Amino acid sequence: MDHPVLQSPPKPYTTTRIYLHWISALVILWATLSGFGVTLLPVHHPVRQWVESFNPQITTVFIPLFAWRLWLYLSASAEQSTGTRDLQKSIAKLTHTLIYLCVSGVLLTGVVMMNHPVLLLGIMPLPQLLHSVPALADVQQLHHLLCAMLAALVVLHLAAVVRHQLRGSSVLRRML
Ligand code: HEM
Ligand code: HEM
Repeated sequence: MDHPVLQSPPKPYTTTRIYLHWISALVILWATLSGFGVTLLPVHHPVRQWVESFNPQITTVFIPLFAWRLWLYLSASAEQSTGTRDLQKSIAKLTHTLIYLCVSGVLLTGVVMMNHPVLLLGIMPLPQLLHSVPALADVQQLHHLLCAMLAALVVLHLAAVVRHQLRGSSVLRRML
């Protein structure tokens, strides 16, 4: 007997990629929401100070995980590049590539824009890389711009996932 089930496309992601996706989603959603959220608080508010000290550490720890994820994405893309592709798949691919580019830019500018040395997890010192005040201000502006672009891409990404679910194509199952 036929049951009306959600049509589920084939699972294209390895378990490693699935874990890395959800770790990245947690870190990026937290850093974006808390990073923008604390700008509503006064500069010396203890919560703002805690977030501004905790976030650079957690996002720096995230860099090797992101590099691993990017490498897996690029390897998989190289293997799939000969397959046929419809418009919807091309748009999804473009959005994913833009997300990777934006996250790379956000991480790079984040590390470069630190205006004081940071003690990573209380053990590993990270030096201040840039000392020129105007250059620091430029990189900070770029960090904020890239964070806003990344937030817009994430909203687009989530809207696409919800839209697929509502239309009966469970892309979420590919990532679970
Ligand atoms: C997952 C990557 C990251 C995301 C999503 C992210 C997100 C954000 C957001 C949303 C803000 C607030 C922007 C605003 O003021 O308008 C911010 C500020 C900041 N970020 Fe990041 N960030 C990331 C990585 C990093 C890294 C790797 C560092 C440094 C190692 C860093 C250092 C900072 C600092 C110091 C601020 C405060 C800047 C200020 O005082 O104006 N971020 N970040
Ligand atoms: C709760 C939030 C999230 C949900 C429910 C979600 C869901 C999904 C799903 C279902 C896919 C598979 C799409 C497909 O194969 O067609 C996917 C892929 C992807 N997601 Fe998310 N996502 C979330 C958050 C994020 C965040 C915050 C980012 C990064 C900024 C992100 C980046 C990506 C990327 C780059 C892919 C492409 C596959 C890959 O390279 O691993 N996602 N997501």
